[in-house]
Amino acid sequence: MTGAAVCSTVCPLVCPPPSPTFPSREGNLADIASAGSLHEFLLKLHQDHGPIAAFWWGATYTVSICTHDYFKQQRTAADRPLDLYGLYRPLFGDKSCLYENGEAGLQRRRAYDVAFSHAACGRYLKHFQKLANRLVEGWGEVPAGEQIPVCEHTSSYALRATLLALHGEDMNDDATVNDFMRGYRVIWDEMELLLTEPLTDERAKELEKGKARIRAITDTIVERRKQNPPSEDDRHFIDIVINYSPDAEQQFCDALGYVIAGFHTTGNMLAFAIYYMCKNPEVQEKVHEEIVQVLGDDDVTIDNIPYLMYTHQVLQETLRCAVVAPWAARVRDVPFILGDYVIPKHAPVIHALGVASKNADVFPEPDKFDPERFSPKNSESRPPLSFIPFGFAGKRKCPAEKFAYGEAAIFLVAVCRKFRLALVNDQDIQQVHGFVTHPSDEIWVTLTKR
Ligand code: HEM
Repeated sequence: MTGAAVCSTVCPLVCPPPSPTFPSREGNLADIASAGSLHEFLLKLHQDHGPIAAFWWGATYTVSICTHDYFKQQRTAADRPLDLYGLYRPLFGDKSCLYENGEAGLQRRRAYDVAFSHAACGRYLKHFQKLANRLVEGWGEVPAGEQIPVCEHTSSYALRATLLALHGEDMNDDATVNDFMRGYRVIWDEMELLLTEPLTDERAKELEKGKARIRAITDTIVERRKQNPPSEDDRHFIDIVINYSPDAEQQFCDALGYVIAGFHTTGNMLAFAIYYMCKNPEVQEKVHEEIVQVLGDDDVTIDNIPYLMYTHQVLQETLRCAVVAPWAARVRDVPFILGDYVIPKHAPVIHALGVASKNADVFPEPDKFDPERFSPKNSESRPPLSFIPFGFAGKRKCPAEKFAYGEAAIFLVAVCRKFRLALVNDQDIQQVHGFVTHPSDEIWVTLTKR
């Protein structure tokens, strides 16, 4: 790689960190904070230093890569750098699957992946459909001209959909979901705060209270399902977790961890999808045309969903533009070669998925929203691994791509079938890149019935 320089005598490698702050304990943390987020820092890092670059995450020497050819070399890397994700341990819990590396982690993943199989996702669609129908009925009663807060609705839909699919019918009950939501809110606020402020004793207490509330709900569900084991075709994620290990703490960590991983990602993707569709009304019309042609008046099913190709393109382009999950990371316990460099053992390697999404060589005019980029013809020439919003490496990529797409497609179909949506005051929304990317403000729309 041209322009790269050896940056330190300590690490036998690589590209220059943006400011050579080592050996300070802070490393490039101040640069990350002033960039606004890790994703924005990585954009600049790669712009300045090319597709492989290094920086100091505190005192940890960290490498980042952002192009398909480097991703390809990371394909088999499975283990997560636990220190990097350590920030979130108080939330996910020590026994979370997210913190299990090695063969034990892979084994647990394989067992849990059954809950995300093609057949299982097919079963969840009917739950998603009921929720979407309920939402659209509610919107149908809104007086003309009244403004609707999109993020509030997409996040409520996504939480309910995730809970119903993962935990089963017990999560059909409004009181239980609302109670869960109250505990969850405390947890999520903490998660966002942790990015900028260390946990204080007082906040740790609040966090524990939020978790205790959710724990009580989860324990009740677990107990009920143990007493009344579901039939084979009514098994949900929670049943697999219960069967996998008798350890109640592990059951709780995984039951909660999968909800956290699933709820914000899909909820924010949907909020951004509505936003981009309002900014591009012709896209809304094309989605509607596709619904009429492919579905007529039918619901979305596992059999017809592959034919909703344009809707899929809209969701892909939304994930690309909004950079919903900006990065993943891996680590190895031996030194290894990446491109022209030797990566020291234990050095985290960040997969800058969001930077890859904005690569102008692959996606010209990267900030423009254009679902045609993902048409079959336009996708043909794109190298594999140049767009990987769900990750790709070592059998630890997101287990729920199909799940998320089903959930989102049902929502968009239900809404676009009935309404045209318009932004209030042609609002301009930015992206806030935290652990997951979310819209900078509530998105307000008005509805016109079709
Ligand atoms: C738009 C929706 C979503 C996006 C963009 C997304 C993206 C991602 C990404 C980038 C990762 C990291 C992969 C890696 O480390 O290589 C991940 C992991 C994960 N996601 Fe998703 N995700 C989405 C929806 C969901 C949903 C709906 C669920 C569950 C219901 C879920 C559960 C998980 C879990 C459990 C992991 C960790 C897997 C492991 O540790 O092995 N995700 N996701």
